[in-house]
Amino acid sequence: MARLELENIFYRYKGANKDVLKDVNCSFKGGQVNAIVGPSGSGKTTLLSIMAGLDEPTQGRISIDDQDLKDLDLDEYRRDSVSMIFQAFQLFPLLTALENVSFPMEYKGVPKEEARKKGKEVLDSIGVDGDKQSRYPSNLSGGEQQRVAIGRTLATGARVILADEPTGNLDDENSDRIIDILKQLAHEQDFCVIIVTHDMEIAEASDNVWRIKDGTIEQVK
Ligand SMILES: Nc1ncnc2c1ncn2[C@@H]1O[C@H](COP(=O)(O)OP(=O)(O)OP(=O)(O)O)[C@@H](O)[C@H]1O
Ligand SMILES: [Mg+2]
Repeated sequence: MARLELENIFYRYKGANKDVLKDVNCSFKGGQVNAIVGPSGSGKTTLLSIMAGLDEPTQGRISIDDQDLKDLDLDEYRRDSVSMIFQAFQLFPLLTALENVSFPMEYKGVPKEEARKKGKEVLDSIGVDGDKQSRYPSNLSGGEQQRVAIGRTLATGARVILADEPTGNLDDENSDRIIDILKQLAHEQDFCVIIVTHDMEIAEASDNVWRIKDGTIEQVK
């Protein structure tokens, strides 16, 4: 079953005089890594925001597991179904790595001790271990911060991971590591992973590639 499906999506920013997205149709399945590529300003981040439920399309239909987003509680959808990873500046600076991961669970009602335990497991599993877990983001490398951000995503339980240029600030080694983690999550744990990227190597390593141009999208792989 398609996990996330977009049909005839149009989007225009308030006050703008033209559509950023024009009749976008695409669908993304669990178990696969999808890359979205396209020139700067072509609407990639806009599309991710719409998929994340942060913005509503001007026209068109989005569904998750065959349920129209219009019929769902958007707050719940944003909290439980999708998780967005940004390029940078996404961790709470005054929380430690572990707190950054456990906080969203506590926010959802998981008892503090249980959230910490799960947070530790998740961070261990992606190589942010030992004393790194009690450091503030400013005392971690860019790659480590990005892994904490992925850890936070995993801890929320969302099955769709939306990543906007997740390796944009990283060197090749850290970048490979992030992509390996995302691939593993898709292929071994059935997550639906959607990555916006300028990096053709990432696109090549993905199962599907979509290209946005002039506000429309086509599948090129
Ligand atoms: N809040 C806004 N109000 C009006 N126009 C906007 C707004 N945000 C983005 N845009 C415009 O919408 C278009 C698409 O922007 P978007 O951020 O989705 O591009 P992008 O493909 O992510 O680019 P990049 O690769 O540079 O991140 C651009 O022309 C941009 O100027
Ligand atoms: Mg962008």
